[in-house]
Amino acid sequence: MKVGILTGGGDCAGLNAVIRAVVRKSEQFGYQVIGIRHGWAGLLTVDTIPLTWTDVHNIVNLGGTILHTTRTNPFSRKDGPAAVLANVKKLGLDALVAVGGEDTLRVAAKLAPMGLKVVGVPKTIDNDIVATDVTFGFDSAVNVTVEAIDRILTTGESHDRIMVVEVMGMEAGWLAAYAGVASGANLTLVPEEPFDLDDVASLLRKRHDQGATASVVVVGEGCRLRGYSLGDPAKVDEFGHIRQGGIAELLAREIEKRTKIESRAVVLGHVVRGGAPSAYDRILATRLAVAAVQAIKNGEFGVMVCLRANAITSVPLSEILDKTKNLDEETLSLVKDFCR
Ligand code: F6P
Repeated sequence: MKVGILTGGGDCAGLNAVIRAVVRKSEQFGYQVIGIRHGWAGLLTVDTIPLTWTDVHNIVNLGGTILHTTRTNPFSRKDGPAAVLANVKKLGLDALVAVGGEDTLRVAAKLAPMGLKVVGVPKTIDNDIVATDVTFGFDSAVNVTVEAIDRILTTGESHDRIMVVEVMGMEAGWLAAYAGVASGANLTLVPEEPFDLDDVASLLRKRHDQGATASVVVVGEGCRLRGYSLGDPAKVDEFGHIRQGGIAELLAREIEKRTKIESRAVVLGHVVRGGAPSAYDRILATRLAVAAVQAIKNGEFGVMVCLRANAITSVPLSEILDKTKNLDEETLSLVKDFCR
């Protein structure tokens, strides 16, 4: 039995923990593992490396992915899907583990009915994949974000400033919401809840009039303001996503103008995506990897392994097609109660 594994989309902490556990569990079953490099691109060009336990030892704590990753979409190329299937055959792969976010998993979901024997493993700092309670990478990113905000607050306090902190997450506000609530941010803005610039400014003005000397505003990169265009429409990836960014700069400028309180923007960006995974993410990644290899052993393909009510299970990959998991009501009300 020959098992391929690839990591696609934006990296996150815990990818190497999955790779390691897939290799070790596969070897227990006597399976050979082939690493596909650079995500789906590695199956368009046949870019692979063999993986044995010596290649994956001491990487459970390592950030990033030893297989590298890209945002390659075989469906954006003429004959791309056919090339992937032909190369899987050429490599003699009996099964493929695709570790990725919604884009990578959607490619897997579309290739499964075309004959690819694939098992998906969900990852992303955005935590926006439906059918799983949480994705690995998210907990690590929340922890790094909270540590950064703790630091930003002390310098903000020293200078009596408003500090606007932009965090990743695309159109989902999970990272902003969790980091905002956990760090005690004074205001947290998420893409799921449109807001008005004047309301934001008057809320902050009021806090400072009542005696606050500094404020931290956490803002999800996917937040939009009517009348302002953000992101870079010239930079669109193969899945149609516009490169995000810019909301913190805009907010800090407009808040300062309206409140007359000195304001600064901080973009945490990739800082929170890199580095070592939290213990929680290492365990979750390992549990999911074991389930993926077990699914292969059971001949269960076209599925995504996932976490539901703290149990590892699986769902058909088709369940995640064209859906994004946005903030639930409970989290939204935590944000409203504690970050306003
Ligand atoms: O999807 C994960 C993510 O980190 C998003 O939160 C962010 O918008 C995007 O990737 C950034 O991607 P890149 O590293 O390709 O700029």
